[in-house]
This record gives sequence, structure tokens and C-alpha cells, in this order.
Amino acid sequence: MKFSVISESPASHRTDCLLLAVYGSRALSDEAEAVDKASRGQLVEWLKRSPMDGSTGQPPVIFYGLRGVRAHRVLVVGLGARSKLDAGGFAKALRKAADAVIGSGAASAALFLDSVAVAERDGYWKVRQAVEILSAQAYRFDEMKSKSQRTPRPKLTRVGLAAADAERARAAAAHGEAVAAGVETARTLGNLPGNVCTPSHLAEHARALAKRHARLTARIIEAAEMKRLGMGSFLSVARGSREAPKLIVLRYTGGKSGAKPVALVGKGVTFDTGGVSLKPAAAMDEMKFDMCGAASVLGAVEVAARLKLPINLVVLVPATENMPDGNASKPGDIVTTLAGKTVEILNTDAEGRLILCDALTYAARFEPEVVVDVATLTGACVVALGAHATGLWANDERLADELLAAGTATGDRAWRMPLWSEYDEQLRSNFADFANVGGREAGAVTAAMFLARFTGDFRWAHLDIAGTAWKQGKAKGATGRPVPLLAEFLLRRAGVLD
Ligand code: BES
Ligand code: MN
Ligand code: ZN
Repeated sequence: MKFSVISESPASHRTDCLLLAVYGSRALSDEAEAVDKASRGQLVEWLKRSPMDGSTGQPPVIFYGLRGVRAHRVLVVGLGARSKLDAGGFAKALRKAADAVIGSGAASAALFLDSVAVAERDGYWKVRQAVEILSAQAYRFDEMKSKSQRTPRPKLTRVGLAAADAERARAAAAHGEAVAAGVETARTLGNLPGNVCTPSHLAEHARALAKRHARLTARIIEAAEMKRLGMGSFLSVARGSREAPKLIVLRYTGGKSGAKPVALVGKGVTFDTGGVSLKPAAAMDEMKFDMCGAASVLGAVEVAARLKLPINLVVLVPATENMPDGNASKPGDIVTTLAGKTVEILNTDAEGRLILCDALTYAARFEPEVVVDVATLTGACVVALGAHATGLWANDERLADELLAAGTATGDRAWRMPLWSEYDEQLRSNFADFANVGGREAGAVTAAMFLARFTGDFRWAHLDIAGTAWKQGKAKGATGRPVPLLAEFLLRRAGVLD
């Protein structure tokens, strides 16, 4: 999809589909007002005969052949009460409008929403949201279906965005397009099945990404080197798999040489059977999504590289399968981590923390400014927060606030959880320094407490995306979260946004 900023009036703009807003009780936005004038009152007249009364949640209506306008169709979306319009309401309406525009078969569209006031949001935000939402709604994943089973691609390829401040809008569109590309990358990697998206596939993806961008380099650490380094915990998870584990190291050097990097660490379990502590069969297919942390950090670095952000980044992805096998780890096994601490594996299904701890220890080599890990770490986080918020843990207040703010700004929200020493007792082990599980209570917190034992030397945050990275049910599929949050965090850190 190609986006451009337009400054024409809505009635004289040539497009397949003009997109206009009305507020509750059929109150017209400025742009709808202009179109109504140009059509000599026909818009209002037709609106009155339609079910569209401007309230939120209503399906948008499409009018064909309105007099006095150049567009073939005029799509009207309801925004509810003008004074109550907030970021969430605007995004929701836009998603509905995007589905309707795409469903109408229009090849081009023009959004005239510049006059719409969204609480605590500016014109930049509206344009960026529009770009991200239209791109996301046009996303299809059907490459694994045979050709005859694929639904036709959306025809919509050109989208105009009306904005008074054209310069800011152009920046917003460029940022939105880059974020949308990062989200798409994360969704596709997530949606690919476990027999295609293997650790090697992730490594190849990283290599190919590095080839496309001048300031990006990839290095893949193989099992033999991990062994030499002493990554006994990571390697213990890979023992039961026939697929070679990979530790992917991507370095992006858009910032000043010598400026400390932001490190992003993503859990890359390309399939999680649970290992010998085998998961139940129901919905086990969803464990192909257990590499969505990896996918999101790969998506985020792609955003940075596409926008040539002036920032240094290190992306680490420990990638492996978690399989049961004659050689697999057993409950009670004790492993030595890269940090030298010993861990009793009481449950082989708590494998994410076992690969992340070694990656976090390795991250310290890059003398990072901050480290953020992203992982589909615990079912307990889904129980706690559901599908709406990513769980956030941090050992630094400012870093926590930055990530929370980035989530709020993008609608890709996170919610802070505690890292209190009281929870530490749950990880006690009779035989090793500590255990890899902490019992039924506060499972998402004890997982974070486990990671915290490896992050004493730097400012660190942990994002548990088990509830937010994919959708279940009929719309099953990867969401691309938290790429928008991470991208916003990086844009702000790079000083590109205020
Ligand atoms: N990948 C899972 C977490 C998960 C489970 C995400 C369900 C989304 C839905 C992780 O490796 C895991 O299995 N965690 C265990 C930990 C437990 C054994 C302490 C869990 O959450 O059940
Ligand atoms: Mn598991
Ligand atoms: Zn897992």
C-alpha cells in the first residue's frame, strides 16, 4: 500500500473512495460539511435515509454517485459524540472503515479526517494510526494455502491522507509505513508453522534482513560455540530437538559510534511441546507462536533500519524447539547457566526462561544502555491480563515509564507488574541454586523473578506477550504486538519524536 499526503478539497479529489466522518446525531465533520455543500445537500439527505446516525460501533455506510464530488464512492464512518472521542474510539472506527473500504473493492482511497479532534492526540498521531491500521487490516496470510484456495488480495493500493500540516503528516506516514512493515514481518514469522519457521529459518530471516540494510549486520552463534561459551541452560532446552539451535545476534549501528546500544532480546521457541513435561494436545498447535517475542524484536529492528534511526541496537534471539526425546532434559536435571548459576529444571515446559537467562547474560557484553526482553513466557500472564495488555516488569522506573508511555501512545498497551523480593522464595531448590518454576501462585511474576536473577548489572525490562502476541479462535493468528510499542520506544529514544 502506498500512502501520500494530499491538500486538495474532498469534493474535488479524484479517488475510488472518499472517507468522511460524522459524529453522534449526524453532526458533520468539517470535511463532510464541505462535501455536503458541494453535493447541494445530498450527503445530509442520504445520511438521513441511511441507518448511519454517527454513533460508534455502527457499520460504515457507502454512498455511490454523490453529485458534485469526483470520488466514485463516499464512505461515512461514525465517531460518536465529538467531545468524547478518544484514541481507542478513533482506532476502532478506523478499523471498521478500513474493512469497509477494502471490502468495497476500491483500488484507491482518500481519508479526510484532519478536522477530527481526538483527545490528547495530534495530527501526526492520526495519520500514523491511519497508515498502521489500514496496512494491518489489509494483511493476509495465505501463502501456505494452495493457489486455488487463496482469497484475492485486497485491491486497495493507494491511500491519500488529507492534512493541513503536510510536512508532519509526511513524517507520520513514513513512520507508520515502517511500523506497518515491522508488524507484518512479526505476524508472518508468527503465523508460519513450526515445520517451516525453525530456528534456522529465523536465522536466515535475520541474515536476509541484514543484507538489505547497510547499518545492519547479523552473526549466528551455533551450538558448538554456545557450548564453548558455557550456555548450558539454553543448550539444555535444545537437547530434545533435531533442529539445530541458533543464537541470532543482529547489530544495528545508526547512532554515534561508541553510543551504548539498546538491547532487545526475543524468545524464539519455534515450537513448544513442553518437552518431557508434555503439554496437553488441545490447542498445542498455538505453540508455534512461541517465537513471537523473537518475531517482534526482528520486526522492531526492521523499523529502525528502514527509518535509519540514529540509535545503536543489539538484537539477540535465542532460537530453539522444545521437544521430548530420548536426549531431552528431564524434570530434576540440573544445568549450569552462562552466568555460572545452577538451575534445577523442575518443569521442562518452563523453557523460555532457560534460554532467555543465557541470552540476557550474553547481552551484558554489549554494555547496553538498557535491555528489553520480549517473550510469550507464561500462561499465567494470560490469566492475569488477558489479551489486552502485555505484562511489564522492570528494575528501573524510567525505563518502565518509557515503555508504558510508548504502549499508551500506540494503543499497544502494557501494564506494570511487581518484581518484589518476597516472590523469590518460590524459586527455592533443594539441590541447585534455584529452580526454574515457582509453583501455581503468581506464575508470571515468578518467571520474571527468575529472569531478574540474570539482570543485576543493567537496566532491564521484561515484556510477557503470551496474551497479546496472537489471537485465538476464528481469527487465530499473530497480531504483530508489541512491535508498535517497541518501535515507538525506539523512535522516542532516537530523539525523532518529542
Ligand atoms: N510458551 C509457554 C507459555 C504460554 C502458555 C504462552 C500458554 C501462551 C499460552 C511457556 O513456555 C510455558 O509453557 N510456560 C509454563 C510455565 C509453567 C510450567 C511454570 C506455563 O505457563 O504453563
Ligand atoms: Mn513451555
Ligand atoms: Zn514456551
